[in-house]
Amino acid sequence: MSTRVPDGVGATAIGVAAVRAHESTRPDRLFDDPYASRFLAATGWTPPTRADGRTRLAGVVLTIPIRTRFLDEALTDAADAGCRQVVLLGAGLDTRAFRMDWPPGLKLFEVDLPDMVAFKESVLADDTPACARSVVVADLTEDWTTPLLAAGFDRTAPTVWVAEGLLVYLTSEQNEALIAEVSALSAPGSHLALTVLNQSRLGEIKERLLDNAIVDLWQSGTPDDPIAWLASHGWQATVHDPVERAAAYGRPYLFDHLPHGPGRGFVTATRHEGRPH
Ligand SMILES: C[S@@+](CC[C@H](N)C(=O)[O-])C[C@H]1O[C@@H](n2cnc3c(N)ncnc32)[C@H](O)[C@@H]1O
Repeated sequence: MSTRVPDGVGATAIGVAAVRAHESTRPDRLFDDPYASRFLAATGWTPPTRADGRTRLAGVVLTIPIRTRFLDEALTDAADAGCRQVVLLGAGLDTRAFRMDWPPGLKLFEVDLPDMVAFKESVLADDTPACARSVVVADLTEDWTTPLLAAGFDRTAPTVWVAEGLLVYLTSEQNEALIAEVSALSAPGSHLALTVLNQSRLGEIKERLLDNAIVDLWQSGTPDDPIAWLASHGWQATVHDPVERAAAYGRPYLFDHLPHGPGRGFVTATRHEGRPH
């Protein structure tokens, strides 16, 4: 397998791993990801310092441990509710297959682009996952459902889907298509967990807070009313305030000083009905 370090949008996953590596060293860590530092070592990437002017990313850095912990809990809840399939969309360097406790028989699928998958597999070659893990090489803006089904995904089984730090890198049209495809593959009892950035706040947040190369890759925000948006795809959604979650975890949060609220959120949803006709 290649050890070429992903660039472009793939580089964003390396930044996430850097934050998770740091978080894992804290005595009060919100999770322990022992693989994150190994990804970093394999890239040779160094985190930004105050001296090099890249510290405007600090706000994003604060959000990552919060969302990671929140989604760990959402996945555990979904497994407890009976989901025995997990799909990580744009999985990047997510190591939940290895670092979380899963019920027997759980199948976990990771979908990402070829360079990312090759790099990740090269680092994890000798590690054993804690579930039945399948890697699906696919572009989520093209046909990704055929390779997912070919990898053994069962469309009749309740599934929990995660899109963490992904939707902002796709266009609105691509996100609409992605959620429609996810919905069509979701049996009753399925769960969905997303991190979102509101469309109406995207420009402001890009311009005022986070002027840097990673944010330049952000293509779209999601609809400002995620409950209505997901209802149109057959989901019953709940929006979770990241500021409140951060406080519950005893952590600060970047956007809590802004007058209009964070513009970001965590969304979970469940599906009680069958596929829409
Ligand atoms: C910011 S990273 C987040 C990774 C992971 N979800 C996490 O939170 O650790 C974004 C990920 O989305 C993936 N990605 C972006 N566009 C994609 C596409 N069109 N198809 C598949 N994966 C994509 C990137 O390769 C990268 O791994």
